[in-house]
Amino acid sequence: MADADEQARFPGFDVTKPSIARTYDYLLGGKDNFAVDRAFGDKFIHDLPGSNQIALDNRGALIRAIGELVTTAGIRQFVDLGSGLPTADNVHQVAQRFAPEAKVVYVDNDPIVLAHGRAILAENDNTAVIQADLREPKTIVENPETQRLIDFTEPVAVIFSATLHHVNDDEDPAGLVRFWHDRIVAGSHVFISHFRSENDPRSEELQHLLQGSLGRGRWRTDDEIRALFGEGFTLQPPGLVPAALWRHPDPEDLTDYQRLIAAALAIKN
Ligand SMILES: C[S@@+](CC[C@H](N)C(=O)[O-])C[C@H]1O[C@@H](n2cnc3c(N)ncnc32)[C@H](O)[C@@H]1O
Repeated sequence: MADADEQARFPGFDVTKPSIARTYDYLLGGKDNFAVDRAFGDKFIHDLPGSNQIALDNRGALIRAIGELVTTAGIRQFVDLGSGLPTADNVHQVAQRFAPEAKVVYVDNDPIVLAHGRAILAENDNTAVIQADLREPKTIVENPETQRLIDFTEPVAVIFSATLHHVNDDEDPAGLVRFWHDRIVAGSHVFISHFRSENDPRSEELQHLLQGSLGRGRWRTDDEIRALFGEGFTLQPPGLVPAALWRHPDPEDLTDYQRLIAAALAIKN
């Protein structure tokens, strides 16, 4: 599946294994991916038709959440954990459309995000892209770019959009949310979108596919996802719902696949 030409052209990247960021980019219609990612993405597109809508719905909910955080909650600072490759309507573009002074720190551990992201994502003084592992949150807080852009004495939105399902149970995803809870002031927000199982056999099939290729991808029940917020947050209306329904002004009937990704926004008490 790996393309020998690609390996020669991109010596710094492993083109033999799909990456989460590049496959997701492919599913969203992006171009920053390799043959191995496209082959993996095609399994969703062709073998499980309709399942790639999960990626599109997730992105839609994220964009609506950023808009609401800026316009309704007055948030001006964002830490986007596992931000992914640049795409249409990146977090800083949505936020700065309403508030040009909004600050965004993008974090991802995939080197391709840094390679492609710096030019687009870090396009003004109010944004930065850092390469870090969201499972090591202290390194993110201490990063000089975070220190430069984020004032932790003011409200912050911490974004876990389609990332915590790539954190296995034994890596304590709830502990990661707690870490941020303890660093942000009251009035700050946490957004989580997450693969949602609801005991649907399709989620088992998808989990099997992702675990087999990426070694990650955990579908959790609604109770498990809500538990990730832990104590000290209040879920904002409409609570945890399928991403396609999350504050959608004109929701349509959902397909079964669309029920397999959920989103929720919470405020720190
Ligand atoms: C499905 S994409 C989501 C991208 C974006 N947040 C969105 O919702 O559109 C997941 C992203 O999380 C990143 N990621 C996964 N595990 C990570 C980790 N441990 N540390 C940092 N980034 C991680 C991947 O590289 C990928 O870019």
